[in-house]
Parts: sequence; structure tokens; C-alpha cells
Amino acid sequence: MKRLATFSLFLILIAFTPFLNAQVGNTVILNADQTSDTISRHIYGHFSEHLGNCIYGGIWVGENSSIPNTRGIRNDVTGALKKLNIPNLRWPGGCFADEYHWMDGIGPRENRPKMINTHWGGVVEDNSFGTHEFLDFCEQLGTEPYICGNVGSGSVEEMSKWVEYITFDGMSPMAELRRKNGREKPWKVKFWGVGNENWGCGGNMTAEYYADQYKRYSTYCRNYGSNRLVKIAGGPNSGDYHWMQTLMMNIPGNMMGGVSLHYYTVPGSWEFKGSATRFSEGEYFSTISKTLYMEEMITKHSAIMNQYDPQRKVSLVVDEWGAWYDVEPGTNPGFLRQQNTLRDALVAGINLNIFNNHCGRVKMANIAQMVNVLQSVLFTDGARMVLTPTYYVFEMYKVHHDATLIPLVLKSPDYVYEEKKVPAVSASASKDRNGIIHATFTNADPHNMIEQHIEMHGMNAGKITGKVITAKEFNAYNTFEAPYVVKTTDFSGFKMDGNLLHIKLPAASVVMIEISK
Ligand code: AHR
Repeated sequence: MKRLATFSLFLILIAFTPFLNAQVGNTVILNADQTSDTISRHIYGHFSEHLGNCIYGGIWVGENSSIPNTRGIRNDVTGALKKLNIPNLRWPGGCFADEYHWMDGIGPRENRPKMINTHWGGVVEDNSFGTHEFLDFCEQLGTEPYICGNVGSGSVEEMSKWVEYITFDGMSPMAELRRKNGREKPWKVKFWGVGNENWGCGGNMTAEYYADQYKRYSTYCRNYGSNRLVKIAGGPNSGDYHWMQTLMMNIPGNMMGGVSLHYYTVPGSWEFKGSATRFSEGEYFSTISKTLYMEEMITKHSAIMNQYDPQRKVSLVVDEWGAWYDVEPGTNPGFLRQQNTLRDALVAGINLNIFNNHCGRVKMANIAQMVNVLQSVLFTDGARMVLTPTYYVFEMYKVHHDATLIPLVLKSPDYVYEEKKVPAVSASASKDRNGIIHATFTNADPHNMIEQHIEMHGMNAGKITGKVITAKEFNAYNTFEAPYVVKTTDFSGFKMDGNLLHIKLPAASVVMIEISK
């Protein structure tokens, strides 16, 4: 009754307050008094594959490089990434994972065998960045490693020994080998992927065959000492619900901590994806519309998982997501280097809002990829480095890490393009351990500012501040020469009125509002 009365009051206010001349439908009801699930910080994970210049040039330059580094790892990149509080980092792939043989990447670098990276540009992989270098990078970043083992072309023994090499503290052939290679104490590794895209580049398997293989491989990935592996099964491609159903039905819940899901936002077709910077409004609309499909997929996959795992012990791990465009003109097509514009900031903001709102099931996600590849947060070129619009979204959304989700009811106006429409606004909200509330919004409409009215329950708004990421053009981007075209700035387009907060979301923007008592 009390809520009904508040809501009626809210409607009356809309009718009579001149400030509220916007559409009545633009409302968000924030139920801060209804506590919900925790938004795991692991939703904000990243992915680094041996692909193009993600590892080589982007992260690893080698100890003898003139680019300032710590044991071969770029200091500028580590410094920028540390500011994002990256919770976990997936490696070594991707498709590369299922042709990677980890023993090639240990021991003196000059003795490591070279291989052809057949998936990504056919270049020579000299294995100079291997297990020790990756785990050193994770330690420098303060992030949890998420290692993806080789099911497609590797053996059960090989995967089992990799776990032993990294995590066993006693006397064993693998622990001795690790010590010989300079690491006395084992590392802790929590997240362990059992293959990647096994429906495709990871072996072209059927779901039924993979489910059996998963059980074989994962049985021999042991928990040594106090190390506890969270094993993640190679999950479906986008909306392949049969794959999810088969895994959930055939793999006992106590044998897996998560099932992965991969979905890329491609504005055009896989053959003609579209340019990362020179795109029409039609392509922009298509990007937003296709990225919103994540909501439907997560809802449907979660419904299947709920049938077998109603207690939500098995996580949905969206360990590859992001936008995928044509490569930058003149670059190696196998290197997947693409620019990153304000459109990508919207893609990031929308997806992260979706993950937050589904945090009861989605407990981990990894944007593809960290540096120089696909929807990266950083670009490097020799000694230079620049932050992308997507970087600023991850920085802005840090406030949600391990905070409590505040359920919200959102009514958004439409963004209409020709005869098509999508909801213009997405949102999510959380309360942190100090009781501070953060709400993040995206307005995908590139033409119209949208006034959104927030009806707040169970909270007293004292101090309110805001941040915004926007630009004049939806294809604005940062370059080494002009690095701050798209960045975060302070936002003051809001007004408090009783328990209503009115926010003017600029056209094509990502906004964060902080409300403290
Ligand atoms: O991220 C690029 C590739 O996309 C990954 O290697 C693969 O898993 C996916 O198809």
C-alpha cells in the first residue's frame, strides 16, 4: 500500500512539475530497501590471447626492451590496468588455447620451441611469454589467473601436469620442474577452463561428446594443498541452448563451477562486419540492437541452468564478449586490431548493466580482449599507449565490484531508427559496503537527451555526484595524437525533488550517479 501511494504521488508530480515535461514512461524505480545478490567483481574480468599484439607488444616486450618494463612486462600497461582493479585474467586463448602446449613455454627462453600460430595470422610464436611470465603479470596486476587448458589437441595427462606444475607444493616431477625453472613456491590458480569453443576451433565436437570429454579432463585437474580449482566447462556459442542443456544434464553440478558463454556483437555479417570508425547510423543502431541480444541469451541459458541447478551453484561465465568489427585498414587481418569509439563505450556499458542485473547467475565475464585486439581497453604502438572509451567504462563501473545489486524497474523510451526500435536506456544499481549507492545508465539514442526519473525507495539521498562519458559524435575515438577525445568528465545534469531524482542523460552517453547519505 505504501509503495502504491508513493507511486501515485510520483505520477501526480510528473503531471504538475514543469521540470518533468519529458515522457511519463522514462522512469526507474530503485528499491534500495530490497537487498539482492552480490555483483561479483569477476564480472569485470579481461581476456588476453596469443593473438596479434595483445601479448607481444601489448603486454610483453622482453627484458631487453627500451620500453620501461618489469621482467619483460610493460610498466605503462600494467600501471593503466591496475587502475581498473582487474579481478581475473583469462589466458592463453581463445582458439589459441586448444593448440597451446604449455611445456613449450617454460624453461630458458632461448631453448623454447617456436610454433606457427595457425589461428591468428600464421605468425611465429616463440613461446617467450609462457606460464611463468603470465603468472608474473597476474601478480604485478594483483589479479586472479584464469587459465584455459587444451582439450582440442592436448591430452588429459598434459592438462593434469599443468595443474600440478603450477599448484603442487610437495615433491613431484612437475613441482621439481617448476623449481628448476626458478619458482620455488607454487602459485594459486582458482579459475581453470577445460577447453575453449569446443563446438568450433576447440575440436568441432558435439555437445554430447564434449560433455564426456569434460568429465575425463576435469577429473584429473586436482586440488593440491589449499588450492581449489573452479573448473569452467566450454559452453555454448551464443544462443545454442541444446549445448547448454546437454552440459547441464550430463555433467554433475559438483564437477563444474561454471559454464562459459561466448557472444560477440557484430553489426553486419561475419563476412562484412563493418568499420570500427566509419559507420552509418544504421550500423550504429544494429550494433546496439545486437548487443542487447545478450539479455535474451542470458535469460534463456539461465532458465535451462535453473532446471538442473536451482541453487545457482554453477555460474554462467561470459568469458568472451564485446564488439567485433573489420580490422583497421592496412593491418594484418589475423591480428583483429580495431579502433574503439563512443559506440564501444555504449556496448560496454549496456553489457555490464545486463551482467550486473543477472549477477545471481552471471558471476564472471571477460571482455575480449585486453590490449590491441577486438574491443580492447588499451592500444599500444611501440612505446606509446592510449586508453580507449571502453577503458573509461570499466573504470567508471568499478563501483559495482562486489557491491549488492539493487533491483530496479526500468521504463525506457525507445530509440527509433527507420521502422525499428530498441529501448534507449539501460541501467543497473548497487550499494557498496559503505552504504553508498551507484547507478549506471546508458543512453543509446544518438540524437536525444533523455530525462529519466528515478523513484527512490529505502534510501536518503544526501550528497549526489555524477560522471559521464560522451562526445559530439558517436564515432569519436582516442588516438596517440589526440588521446582524450572520449573520456570521463564530471556530470551535473541531475536534480533531486523529494524522493525523485531527475537525470538528463546526454545523447549517446554512459553515466554514473553516486548517492550517499
Ligand atoms: O577472441 C577471438 C576469438 O574469438 C577467440 O580466440 C575465440 O575463442 C573466439 O572465437
